[in-house]
Amino acid sequence: MSGTVLVGGGTGFVGKHLTKTLTSKYYGVKVVSRMPGPKNISWQELNTNGLPEGTVAVVNLAGQNVMDFKQRWSAGFKQNVYNSRINTTASLAKAIANAKHKPRAFVSMSGVGGYKPDKDKEYDECCTVEQFDFFSKLVLEWEKAAAIDGPARNECRITTIRSGVVLGRDGGMIKQLYMPFFLGLGGPVGNGTQYLPWIHIKDLVDLIIFSIENSKVDGVLNAVAPQVCTNKEFSDAFAKALNRPAFIPVPSFVFNMMLGAERAKMITEGQKVIPKRTQELGFKFSFPTVLSACQDIVKNS
Ligand SMILES: NC(=O)c1ccc[n+]([C@@H]2O[C@H](COP(=O)([O-])OP(=O)(O)OC[C@H]3O[C@@H](n4cnc5c(N)ncnc54)[C@H](OP(=O)(O)O)[C@@H]3O)[C@@H](O)[C@H]2O)c1
Repeated sequence: MSGTVLVGGGTGFVGKHLTKTLTSKYYGVKVVSRMPGPKNISWQELNTNGLPEGTVAVVNLAGQNVMDFKQRWSAGFKQNVYNSRINTTASLAKAIANAKHKPRAFVSMSGVGGYKPDKDKEYDECCTVEQFDFFSKLVLEWEKAAAIDGPARNECRITTIRSGVVLGRDGGMIKQLYMPFFLGLGGPVGNGTQYLPWIHIKDLVDLIIFSIENSKVDGVLNAVAPQVCTNKEFSDAFAKALNRPAFIPVPSFVFNMMLGAERAKMITEGQKVIPKRTQELGFKFSFPTVLSACQDIVKNS
């Protein structure tokens, strides 16, 4: 399949990796961004002119960074977090519904935050999301915004990627943890027994492209590695990859104070999520274990 892939939020951490891989596979790439750029169109242009000609697939990765430590967890910031995901996803869904030539696939990001943290419960893609806090409401609305009604739905597959924490050197959690761990000051959060659903950036990018190219893929996919791990197991693996100790735990209250308790829950609590459908559909992970993922990230730093 060749043609143009339109990527909302393609300038971000995941977006840069995705656009690079798409380009290496001879796709044309256009990015929907708030910033001007040679490959960019604005959200306003998308709303007015619709999808660029020759668009064969659409991906949405746009969203205000929730873990921006500089931003206070205020009502205004929460509104940005919400609008930047729901409005962008809805704009892309509307552009697809109105397009004369429909793209074959729409891949929309979501998160594992829709699954309620639980020590025992295991979540696969069949588990429904119910509202229990801010993030579960966000996930519900985000996924709903990707819906395309009417006959257009039969012409365009819609995949919802519920992603765990994305591990890569140049963005997300590792970018923030690299220096403390490198200095031997890393360690688990709290007692470290909370789950930490995760995926290597390469696997996430490959899963998005798998969803674009594979005509059997439609519906929800959990983008988490097969090896379920706890926060402590992640800390140990990352420290081992760096050849450093990791015995300085950070008490949960530090994150509660820094991020606000509602947001800190993303780190201080966690869900046991498995990629059941993702694997049943034939997706193969390059980095199934957390140690292999951390070693690759450190090796390529
Ligand atoms: N990274 C993770 O660990 C992780 C885990 C689970 C889910 N996700 C989700 O995956 C998506 C991509 O993640 P990422 O780590 O690549 O995010 P990112 O680096 O923060 O980039 C997201 C992009 O969204 C756009 N954006 C930011 N604020 C916006 C706003 N207020 N309104 C409209 N657009 C805005 C920006 O593009 P422009 O500046 O060009 O407009 C930015 O490049 C996000 O939706 C995120 O929630 C990420």
